[in-house]
Amino acid sequence: MEFVVKSGAAEKQKTACLIIGVHKKTLPSSATAIDSITEGYLAEVLKRGDLEFKPGHSLMLLHSHHVPFERLLLLAMGDNDKPLTEAGFKKLTTNLASQLKLVNAREATIAIEDIVVEGKSLHWITRQVVEAVEYAFYRFSQFKNDTGKDPCLKKVILLADRKNAEEVKAGLTQGQAIGNGRNVARTLGNLPGNICHPTYLADEAKALAKNHAKLTTKILNEKQMSDLGMSSLLSVSAGSEQEARLICMEFKNGKRSARPLVLLGKGITFDTGGISLKPGASMDEMKFDMCGAASVFGVMNAIIELDLPINVIGMVAAAENMPSGKATRPGDIVTSMSGKTIEILNTDAEGRLVLCDALTYAERYKPEAVIDIATLTGACVVALGHHTTGLLSNNEPLAEELLGASREAMDRAWQLPMGEEYTRQLDSNFADMANIGGPAAGTITAACFLAKFAEAYPWAHLDIAGTAWQSGKEKGATGRPVPMLVQYLLNKI
Ligand code: BES
Ligand code: MN
Ligand code: ZN
Repeated sequence: MEFVVKSGAAEKQKTACLIIGVHKKTLPSSATAIDSITEGYLAEVLKRGDLEFKPGHSLMLLHSHHVPFERLLLLAMGDNDKPLTEAGFKKLTTNLASQLKLVNAREATIAIEDIVVEGKSLHWITRQVVEAVEYAFYRFSQFKNDTGKDPCLKKVILLADRKNAEEVKAGLTQGQAIGNGRNVARTLGNLPGNICHPTYLADEAKALAKNHAKLTTKILNEKQMSDLGMSSLLSVSAGSEQEARLICMEFKNGKRSARPLVLLGKGITFDTGGISLKPGASMDEMKFDMCGAASVFGVMNAIIELDLPINVIGMVAAAENMPSGKATRPGDIVTSMSGKTIEILNTDAEGRLVLCDALTYAERYKPEAVIDIATLTGACVVALGHHTTGLLSNNEPLAEELLGASREAMDRAWQLPMGEEYTRQLDSNFADMANIGGPAAGTITAACFLAKFAEAYPWAHLDIAGTAWQSGKEKGATGRPVPMLVQYLLNKI
């Protein structure tokens, strides 16, 4: 979507669709002006009760005399004159985006200052509106011959007072970068496992580096990983015809001396469970088991676009988890790069096996912090459902920073506890640890496993098993938690 910022009076806009906010009690100034030039038409329509004033409702009015715009979309702002709550605003943006998809015209104009949210700046509101539009207009149709009808709308004009134009522009820039980054993550997530394999992800990283001078990419193949002693990671790809890759995208745009932040994504391009084979129902959704990796690509895209003055390493541990004669068996013992030995009791708990070696490798960047992002446990879906990302950390200030960023970005996360009692569930009779901790607290024991490999730096883990994709009719990757992570990085500058 193309966005531009413009100043001027709402009632004077020559546009195919003007969008304004309306309260039940008093009309905002744009509505008042339109009401007076239409000789009370607006007040009359509203009085008739055709618009329910609850946020999330809207009413499209077609051509009227005396006005230069062809359509007028009224956004309900509530029964009273109070600013919207965050929940109300979310409903409003969702409705706005779906209305825009229906507009039978190439451009539309939003009186962005009409939308007022409790405790939020115009910058924040603009950014969220832009993100919502980018999200709604995303399409994944590259494998369809009949792609259906594209929405007409190509351009959105954000109308704001001259004195607010810079603030709106700044919100727009961030909103577009986050929206685009999120859509990059969605596309990688939506690609099927026969196309998006570890080498494909590595090629994507190479392509990104080729186009941007501040990014360099280093890719380890299986031989190189084997030389480093990454037997845990390699135990996952052992059964697959696809070679594993460890991808490191190095974005250097901060002070040379500044320690980098490392983002590490789980990149299981397909998770069959391996010899501990998963049941058949919905197994196709395990193509989404690289959505953590996809979010790292999305964030790298966004920070390149925003040219953030920071050092960030985007790492991806990419492998395919398949059963075969060469696959790892339940009970097999491997030695990780750290030297710690692991008894693999269940080959379906593979995410932690690829991440642990990558966490050890991350030490060489002397990072300020490492955040891994992973569709790690079904237990996280049981605990938090599809609305909230699980957050676990060995460092309270880092956890607080991420929770703050998640609130600010409206990309919800919730912290779960860790502790020695949980770690003990990983005890093994035959190795330093087992790769599973029994049925209780599966998300926490998975994090406790990772924590054993993240002792050298502040570390946080985001379990996105419930939030990275949607099932059912709307099946598809969501691009979460790109908004939260970009906010976390924005807060660093
Ligand atoms: N990728 C899955 C986790 C998952 C399952 C995410 C369903 C989203 C929906 C992961 O590799 C896995 O299989 N985890 C196991 C761990 C268990 C064997 C300890 C799980 O959650 O069942
Ligand atoms: Mn698995
Ligand atoms: Zn998995």
